[in-house]
Amino acid sequence: MTDHLTIVDHPLVQHKLSLMREKDTSTKSFRQLLREISHLLAYEVTRNLPLTTKRIETPLCEMDAPVIEGKKLALISILRAGNGLLDGILELIPAARVGFVGLYRDEETLKPVQYYFKVPAELEDRVTIIVDPMLATGNSSVAAIDLVKGAGAKNIIFLCLLAAPEGVARMKEAHPDVPIVTAALDSHLNELGYIVPGLGDAGDRMFGTK
Ligand code: URA
Repeated sequence: MTDHLTIVDHPLVQHKLSLMREKDTSTKSFRQLLREISHLLAYEVTRNLPLTTKRIETPLCEMDAPVIEGKKLALISILRAGNGLLDGILELIPAARVGFVGLYRDEETLKPVQYYFKVPAELEDRVTIIVDPMLATGNSSVAAIDLVKGAGAKNIIFLCLLAAPEGVARMKEAHPDVPIVTAALDSHLNELGYIVPGLGDAGDRMFGTK
């Protein structure tokens, strides 16, 4: 673990991730497991949020109770697989503001091209968590962060389920100020850009497409 990369090695996360990796895990189970892991990852990714206090009254007395400081968090999902992580995190942080980044890969240039971009207002004042289950080459993550920074975000965390060393290196080079939180760092990318051992195509597995 480095400051730039945090691996959430909690036994529940690791166990659920292993179930997700199995090729015969059904779409229904995959989705349910992703939702459960999202809760645990949300817990970890919000660990360092600043707290302040608010004067409240319990049935017994007044107290200064800890509450999260500042504006509501922004969660930005990289379409479409990011939505699987987003749904689970929103169950834990229901007041978060939500944005979406849609990117596709130009078959000639192989560069990510934006087709959708909608993010919350006042990003500069919000902790912004960008979610995408698979950090593979890092191309779409880097492009998404470029766009989100362009919209004003200054305090960004990237949350994924699996990362490849190639993607982590690319992110570190392009956005060294953006920490990565992941459940596992896998071995490598194959020639098709899949994470190995990985879990296959996260979007296809979560939505039952091919
Ligand atoms: N995207 C996926 O869904 N899976 C991979 O292994 C790599 C990128």
